[in-house]
Amino acid sequence: MHPARDRRAAPATAASPLLEVRNLETWYGPIAAMQGVNLQVREGQMVAVLGANGAGKTTLLNTLAGVVDPFKGEVLWQGERIHGLDPDAVCRRGLVLVPEGRQIYPFLSVRDNLTMGAFTRGDPDGVREDIARVFGWFPRLRERERQHAGLLSGGEQQMLAIGRAYLSRPRLLMLDEPSLGLSPLLTKEIFGIVSRIRSETGTAILVVEQNAAIALAHADDGYIMELGRIVAADTCANLSQKADVREAYLGGQAAHQNASGTAQRWKRRKTWR
Ligand SMILES: Nc1ncnc2c1ncn2[C@@H]1O[C@H](COP(=O)(O)OP(=O)(O)OP(=O)(O)O)[C@@H](O)[C@H]1O
Ligand SMILES: [Mg+2]
Repeated sequence: MHPARDRRAAPATAASPLLEVRNLETWYGPIAAMQGVNLQVREGQMVAVLGANGAGKTTLLNTLAGVVDPFKGEVLWQGERIHGLDPDAVCRRGLVLVPEGRQIYPFLSVRDNLTMGAFTRGDPDGVREDIARVFGWFPRLRERERQHAGLLSGGEQQMLAIGRAYLSRPRLLMLDEPSLGLSPLLTKEIFGIVSRIRSETGTAILVVEQNAAIALAHADDGYIMELGRIVAADTCANLSQKADVREAYLGGQAAHQNASGTAQRWKRRKTWR
């Protein structure tokens, strides 16, 4: 069966996955925010989850990070079941979340925000080296090293949030809508640096986005989420070629057929950036 047709299957891989999500389901009181989610991230891979407002993207990342507990299903980290663990236990294993809206500490300096990311570490020399590395990726943060983080622009705050997450030495960096509120140019810059972090350090990336074009351009594999369910899974190259994906996600020519039955709903609900 073609991978895009099989909603249960992640794109075919040779290596065993770093992260494997099986039949994951999360509820908020009486609301099922996410159901039957299956997903894989391999070592060093970049995976994108695309979806409109309310699709369940943040719920997925928060469930993986231990912020909310799933009602059903499994999260396997290198084969170990980690669902239900506290967020700090998840973070110590190397799954680190850059949350929606950045959530930096506005009254701490840029440097102190970065240092907060290293709270689990006991190697001050390594922390200093990693801060220098973050400043290499984001020179604008170096220029504002002693400034209160709350005075940074939205783009600089996103850079800081990514840098702070890197200070926890992630094996998998999970990014919740890094493009939110940013200009196309800044979004491109941020994705370029995320790709650089991945290639220079081997860190795997799981990014959820509404900005499909930029995410599909940078990631290896992609999943499309709608109303809490994965409705398509394939390589980003294949997803980018699909007519309904192009129409609904990439603003392309109108497709004659709406094969998955999802494109029209996307078009109505999507916030284009
Ligand atoms: N704390 C909560 N309590 C109740 N319902 C919630 C809560 N958080 C999210 N929801 C609901 O769960 C569903 C999924 O929300 P979620 O925030 O995961 O979507 P999202 O894809 O991240 O959306 P966005 O693109 O707007 O960030 C939505 O219907 C939302 O209203
Ligand atoms: Mg969200």
